Amino acid sequence: MRLDFTTMDRRTAYHWMASTIAPRPVAWVSTLSAEGVANLAPFSFFQMITPDPPTLMICPQINGDGSLKDTARNIQAAKEFTVSLVPFSMVHQMNDTSFAFEHGTSEFASVGVKSEPSYVVQPSRVAGAPMSFECRTSSFVLHPADHPTCAIILGEVVAAHVDDAIVGADGIIDPVKLDLISRMGAEWYGRTNSADNFRLARPSA
Ligand SMILES: Cc1cc2nc3c(=O)[nH]c(=O)nc-3n(C[C@H](O)[C@H](O)[C@H](O)COP(=O)(O)O)c2cc1C
Repeated sequence: MRLDFTTMDRRTAYHWMASTIAPRPVAWVSTLSAEGVANLAPFSFFQMITPDPPTLMICPQINGDGSLKDTARNIQAAKEFTVSLVPFSMVHQMNDTSFAFEHGTSEFASVGVKSEPSYVVQPSRVAGAPMSFECRTSSFVLHPADHPTCAIILGEVVAAHVDDAIVGADGIIDPVKLDLISRMGAEWYGRTNSADNFRLARPSA
């Protein structure tokens, strides 16, 4: 079957892309509003883009009425955020924080997610997450420029908190202990805690 993306509506394009560009890691992003209210929401349009300087990317879509999601709005104003990775044990809390709460409502309080103060940035991180990155915004671009549908946000990682329990004796992160969830299409998720994980060395010649 051939798909013509040049004539496809946004919803159908989302379906084909999000269901096949998978699995995607989930960034559980905390921010602070201008009024000081803590916000927390998940985003799977998320990637590491370079370790030098250590930088990650999240891409919140723009709401149907043209407004920014609270996460993007808060980052645009305050320039700081944290990204916690989501273990399977927290998947339901993560999902509940994706509800479209009104601006000014804290998902930490509404969903009952515990927070811990960050080391460097103002927004708190998710307590109990195996890894939380603290970021300062290095780029905030609305894309495409002539009719924006998303914000491309780059954050430089300035600190992180890691749960010692996920680090193996060899210093390598154990994906089974990490037990992160990943986003696939529709209502499907994956886990790094899988009997099907395998090792593959890079070619040496
Ligand atoms: C697993 C998961 C991944 C999501 N990924 C995205 C995403 O990449 N981009 C996006 O705009 N919304 C995404 N959402 C929806 C947002 O979390 C949702 O719109 C949320 O209400 C935004 O909150 P905010 O307005 O407080 O920023 C995702 C939801 C879930 C459950």
